[in-house]
Amino acid sequence: MKRAFASDSIPLNVNAQRPKNVKMTTGDFIEDSLYNPSYGYFSKEVEIYHPAKPLDYSDLKDQDEFMTSWLKSYEKYDNFGNNNNNNNNNKDNKNDSKKDGGPGLQLWHTPSELFQPYYGEALARYLLVNYMLNQYPYKDLIIYEAGAGNGTLMLNIMDYIKRNQPDVYERTRYKIIEISSKLATSQRAQLDSKISQHSDKVEIINKSIFEWEEVVPEPCFFIALEVFDNFAHDVVRYDIDSGRPYQGYVAISEHGDFQEFYNPELDEWTSAFLGLREQGKFSVFRDKEKSFLGKQFKNQGIFFNRNSQRRHPIYESKMINHLKNILNPLRSNLSAPEYIPTRLLKFFHILKYKFPEHQLLASDFSSLPEVIQGYNAPTVQTFLNNRVVNVSTYMVLQGYFDIIFPTDFKFTSDLYRQVIGKVSKTATHTAFLEQWADIEATTTRNGDNPMLDFYKNAAFLYS
Ligand SMILES: C[S@@+](CC[C@H](N)C(=O)[O-])C[C@H]1O[C@@H](n2cnc3c(N)ncnc32)[C@H](O)[C@@H]1O
Repeated sequence: MKRAFASDSIPLNVNAQRPKNVKMTTGDFIEDSLYNPSYGYFSKEVEIYHPAKPLDYSDLKDQDEFMTSWLKSYEKYDNFGNNNNNNNNNKDNKNDSKKDGGPGLQLWHTPSELFQPYYGEALARYLLVNYMLNQYPYKDLIIYEAGAGNGTLMLNIMDYIKRNQPDVYERTRYKIIEISSKLATSQRAQLDSKISQHSDKVEIINKSIFEWEEVVPEPCFFIALEVFDNFAHDVVRYDIDSGRPYQGYVAISEHGDFQEFYNPELDEWTSAFLGLREQGKFSVFRDKEKSFLGKQFKNQGIFFNRNSQRRHPIYESKMINHLKNILNPLRSNLSAPEYIPTRLLKFFHILKYKFPEHQLLASDFSSLPEVIQGYNAPTVQTFLNNRVVNVSTYMVLQGYFDIIFPTDFKFTSDLYRQVIGKVSKTATHTAFLEQWADIEATTTRNGDNPMLDFYKNAAFLYS
């Protein structure tokens, strides 16, 4: 792939070999690592935990018993690798998440699987209430889901609608847009299984949401759960005197070695992102000019995050930055890095132009453990000898590592308003489920509710 200063208009590398002797933006490098059809992380063996049957919470004494039953249900994954330890990973606990098998193979668990069917039913309630309020009886219920994993959420939502609103069910259509052929096959298998009777209402489209071209003019709901976290980001550092942004690029040598470098030439999405942010509620430069101390505390939500780099790089004092540059001349008078969600911005453009009447329902991680250095930085991890291995850079052998970014929900809601022109709301995972889930059915005998208590680092965005 010859992509010096490539812009995203160049399609994903379809070569079976990892690129050599080229330069590309960090965003393109991460996208290729995750999504390359031959060696990308999502083309390899990705497996999502699926419990054999839903847990009956009234049979469980407490949260500990829930954990024991859950770990027991992992036994069926023993043939996934060759080690029998039971590990788990909800990207919150930094625990192991798979059964060996060499680097790159991973078993995820997600709330839609772990708490099925109750989690899907909570979302179905939300969809039905909003559909009845805004579209019924004039429009059909049309649901799109990008990145549907095993297809469990789709089954749970369709079952719930069929059971509770058979008339609405008759006019429901559910379309999955899935980048991974392996997971699209799992989704088809679930759909064709005896338990599912929804085949005539569901369509599975095996492609990336970034390749979507058709315009969907009808009102529809658009679901994306744990999908934003794998959208590639670009990286920017700022000149410590002038504040000018420099974009990160990766040079790959003829031997496949990686070298990061920074250039003031910004690609169109990086430039668009930085421009939009300055015009929005969470401008960085506009607010820097105001009272420094006052702003630091007032804007804690956006300028500080819970990850390794808590403060936006341009808020770091000049003196400290200069000192750091003296100690490390390779920093070239630039600040610490900031990772910016350029593919999320692109996704919002797809929503705006291809799904103009959509209502979004998304959930993801608001913070992550073990992130690499930088503001809004990702966790980069793989699995070796049945253990999670976290590394300190995204420049790692393409396809062998998951690269997971946190989402700043308040900021994302503002970006959504700027791009799409609609209002969206945010809620913590707990708050959203308290409103829409069947709390009684998911409470153990001593009153614990694992569905509300787990995933404290997740949140919802809905419009
Ligand atoms: C962590 S899994 C979550 C699966 C499911 N939503 C759940 O919560 O169980 C991420 C899903 O998004 C899919 N995905 C990632 N990037 C995508 C893209 N650009 N277009 C479509 N699907 C994508 C993955 O293949 C996978 O199905």
